Amino acid sequence: MAATFQTRICLAFLVVLAHVTYCPVTGVLRDSNYYTAAVVEFTPSHKWGNNGTLTLRDNYRAYLEYIKEASKQNADIIVFPEDGLTSLYMPHRSLMDSWATVIPSVLDNYVPCTQNTIQNVSETLTSLSCAARQNRIYVVVNIAEKEFCKPNGKRCSDGVSYHNTNVVFDRTGKIVARYRKVNLYMEYNFDPTPIPEVITFDTDFGVKFGTFICFDILFPVPALNLTRTLGISNFVYSTAWFSEMPYLTAVQTQFGWSFAENVNLLVSGYHEPKNGNAGSGIYLGRRGMAVGTITASPEHRLLIARVPKRTQLSESSESSESSEQNEVCEWKLHERRQQIAKPNDAGLDSLDQTKKLDTIRLLHDDLTKYKSVLLNASLTEQLCYGDFCCDFDVRKNSVDSGTSYRAVVYDGVRLYGRDVHAGIRVCSVLQCYNDSIYSCGFPRSSDTAFTVLNITATYDNYHELLVMPTVLDRSLLPMQRFTYSELVNGNQARVSIALDRSTKNLLTFGLYARDFSRDRNDRP
Ligand SMILES: *[C@@H]1O[C@H](CO)[C@@H](O)[C@H](O)[C@H]1NC(C)=O
Ligand SMILES: *[C@@H]1O[C@H](CO)[C@@H](O)[C@H](O)[C@H]1NC(C)=O
Ligand SMILES: *[C@@H]1O[C@H](CO)[C@@H](O)[C@H](O)[C@H]1NC(C)=O
Ligand SMILES: *[C@@H]1O[C@H](CO)[C@@H](O)[C@H](O)[C@H]1NC(C)=O
Ligand SMILES: *[C@@H]1O[C@H](CO)[C@@H](O)[C@H](O)[C@H]1NC(C)=O
Ligand SMILES: *[C@@H]1O[C@H](CO)[C@@H](O)[C@H](O)[C@H]1NC(C)=O
Repeated sequence: MAATFQTRICLAFLVVLAHVTYCPVTGVLRDSNYYTAAVVEFTPSHKWGNNGTLTLRDNYRAYLEYIKEASKQNADIIVFPEDGLTSLYMPHRSLMDSWATVIPSVLDNYVPCTQNTIQNVSETLTSLSCAARQNRIYVVVNIAEKEFCKPNGKRCSDGVSYHNTNVVFDRTGKIVARYRKVNLYMEYNFDPTPIPEVITFDTDFGVKFGTFICFDILFPVPALNLTRTLGISNFVYSTAWFSEMPYLTAVQTQFGWSFAENVNLLVSGYHEPKNGNAGSGIYLGRRGMAVGTITASPEHRLLIARVPKRTQLSESSESSESSEQNEVCEWKLHERRQQIAKPNDAGLDSLDQTKKLDTIRLLHDDLTKYKSVLLNASLTEQLCYGDFCCDFDVRKNSVDSGTSYRAVVYDGVRLYGRDVHAGIRVCSVLQCYNDSIYSCGFPRSSDTAFTVLNITATYDNYHELLVMPTVLDRSLLPMQRFTYSELVNGNQARVSIALDRSTKNLLTFGLYARDFSRDRNDRP
């Protein structure tokens, strides 16, 4: 199909660039330039008790049906969520044995379906290997791993380490990747990996993937090693995300990361809305979201999309010795939601979707320490938090008295979960329901229309940051009509995000940056 993906607007290349700048190209991509990806929004079954066998068995059997269906629809690869086999309800570490499996190393070239030379490989792993083999499809699952180690070693007092692990089977059922989660989110029954792993795998369709898990998305290791050092541009990602308003709901974060790094991201999310877990999708970097879902009761659990193999498209120029670097790239995103499997899937930003949202439990960021001003009809002003400044250009009509909006700036440290103190820099507009800051971040429909909304931030140590667009509408999906521009000069950058057209029902719009230099982990 000769769809125009994207207007290429590289405004100007003022000088010859020392860094290669990537800008998307408009173009027609041939079939061989795509692969077909499937992700599953999955609710694990979960049997009480300390014997994991029955829980795992129920869940892998459910996986087999999705694997068959995805294969029937010609998917090359299918991704399942974090904790999707064990459920989130694993017992205390001392009772983990039946919940966890030995996972052979990639170096063993092991096909659990046809080999039995390695002991303590579980029935679950064997069955999934057979399913990948029978259905000729790459299968990505997340499972609790046990690694036998020498007792009395560091972190190995009882002779075993437990890991939160992604495993990838190729089309013959062979294990081609094993990745142990680096950034654990309070998961005290798992052991931190002593040496962080940076894991990739190759496929027979010519795409090299990176992989990581859930909370990893907010950290540099291994995610940014993969994108920025190794140049990987396709990712499989399993998650059991706890959505938080107003910046870190699931699809908003997934979209923001894929856009920021300009890479394809295939996300499978754990689904248990009363707990706050929902949200999966297939994201195409600066081409936007191919498909995404976050609802209390999804109509479809299997999301399938065709994915262009390359996100980075043209190299704008050769390297040079020039010291003066000015790179201006601007992206316009157009609403383009492609889905080949189920045309009515994820009926995005419809009112139906809105109705299905209200039973998703949402966490709330503490906004009281952020600096903010109430937005009246218009604001053209620079707001600073310490040295961090953002320019706001806002015009809105205020026909809706049931909602109000604030412009927000923050540069500081916040807590993720219980242990992780994280540096963030934020500037955005937020929806509130009255003039109190405590009323911000509770999704409501709003007839207030923004006719102009342009936020520009300046960053000094740009290449050490992760700067993501943070955009959210009433359906808890990213609104995708915006222009994004980055003006990079050495390690400095001015980044703008601006709405393309008059927009209602806006919840969050701005830039969310992680500043890793201020991170601290107090995990006991
Ligand atoms: C766990 O349950 C399975 C199935 O009922 C049973 O076969 C197995 O022996 C049990 N394992 C343990 C450690 O109790
Ligand atoms: C691993 O497998 C061996 C041989 O089947 C068995 O004796 C041993 O108990 C198993 N260990 C664990 C921790 O499951
Ligand atoms: C990953 O990146 C970090 C810096 O963010 C660096 O310290 C580390 O050595 C890198 N690891 C690998 C394996 O490249
Ligand atoms: C918006 O209006 C309120 C009340 O009139 C005023 O106190 C506030 O300063 C105005 N905000 C801005 C950003 O101008
Ligand atoms: C905002 O609404 C909450 C309840 O929804 C109420 O308690 C609070 O007083 C209101 N604040 C303002 C400033 O109107
Ligand atoms: C947004 O504002 C910035 C800074 O004032 C400006 O450079 C940019 O062109 C504006 N973007 C749009 C789309 O209006």
